[in-house]
Amino acid sequence: MSVKNVDGLKLPKIGIGTWQMSAKKTQFAVTAAVEIGYRFIDTAQMYHNEDAVGRGLEELFLSGAVKREDVIVATKVSVFSCKPGKLRKSAEESLVKLRLDYVDILYVHWPAFAFGYSHEETLGAMAGLVDRGMVRHIGVSNFSPRLLDEAGKACPEPVAVIQVEHHPLLKQLELRSYLETKGIPLVAYSPLARGKLHGLAEIEGVAEKHGVSVSRTALAWLMHHGAVPIPKASSRAHLEDNFGAVNLKLDDADIEAIDGISIEKRLLNPPVIGLKEW
Ligand SMILES: NC(=O)c1ccc[n+]([C@@H]2O[C@H](COP(=O)([O-])OP(=O)(O)OC[C@H]3O[C@@H](n4cnc5c(N)ncnc54)[C@H](OP(=O)(O)O)[C@@H]3O)[C@@H](O)[C@H]2O)c1
Repeated sequence: MSVKNVDGLKLPKIGIGTWQMSAKKTQFAVTAAVEIGYRFIDTAQMYHNEDAVGRGLEELFLSGAVKREDVIVATKVSVFSCKPGKLRKSAEESLVKLRLDYVDILYVHWPAFAFGYSHEETLGAMAGLVDRGMVRHIGVSNFSPRLLDEAGKACPEPVAVIQVEHHPLLKQLELRSYLETKGIPLVAYSPLARGKLHGLAEIEGVAEKHGVSVSRTALAWLMHHGAVPIPKASSRAHLEDNFGAVNLKLDDADIEAIDGISIEKRLLNPPVIGLKEW
């Protein structure tokens, strides 16, 4: 149940997202998810819930439900902390909130050049955190193939993972084929298209055929294409439903049906970041 990449990061097939969750729901989701079998948790400085993730993790470690080394915890540097002077302090604060000695993945949340992001300086500072043992792997989020290529050349450490929006309405064909040549895993955010998959005949048909939910079907489609989805789910029922995608095998006709969806819809491109190129 893992995706290998060139520098040894092994990701589970699925993780959980925690954006726009209250502290109480986040703590619940983290503990319930690990009980169900998830071993990959995604948060960010900008979600303002690292503290709740940390409380959930602490509860799990103290009860012996999981060991630190068996769970992958990822967070993201805020667009406001991309400058080297701020970055280290912000990462230290993240670790305090998460109650961890290190995070497995630290991502650049957005290539926010307007806020001081620079491939050399930001990634150089992140590599320094790897040297200090605070971070295991460097990741980037919301990067196009070109930006990823530039980042790879500028970063003293390998860029081990990329996280982008990816779901049946945003197939990421160019990025996927670029990543195949590099052996870099793709973590798929908003994998359920934030609820916009319902009513699509192609997915509903496949879901009905297998007697499963549209959500589970979409997640299995992403996994088939090699992505690691991180659906956000607040209830145990949704967490269990999504985890079931790991064992849902779609056949060629199913994949073809979902691949054939002609609608193309990007859900996230904050105007303040102003990315014109993907
Ligand atoms: N790097 C970035 O810039 C970035 C941007 C966006 C998101 N992300 C990450 O990706 C994660 C997931 O993306 P997202 O939160 O945007 O959206 P999403 O995972 O596509 O969709 C979440 C929505 O789907 C619902 N849901 C979950 N499981 C379901 C199921 N089995 N059946 C029916 N509904 C279900 C959730 O409801 P309930 O909450 O009620 O369960 C929630 O309303 C985020 O939480 C975050 O960690 C990263």
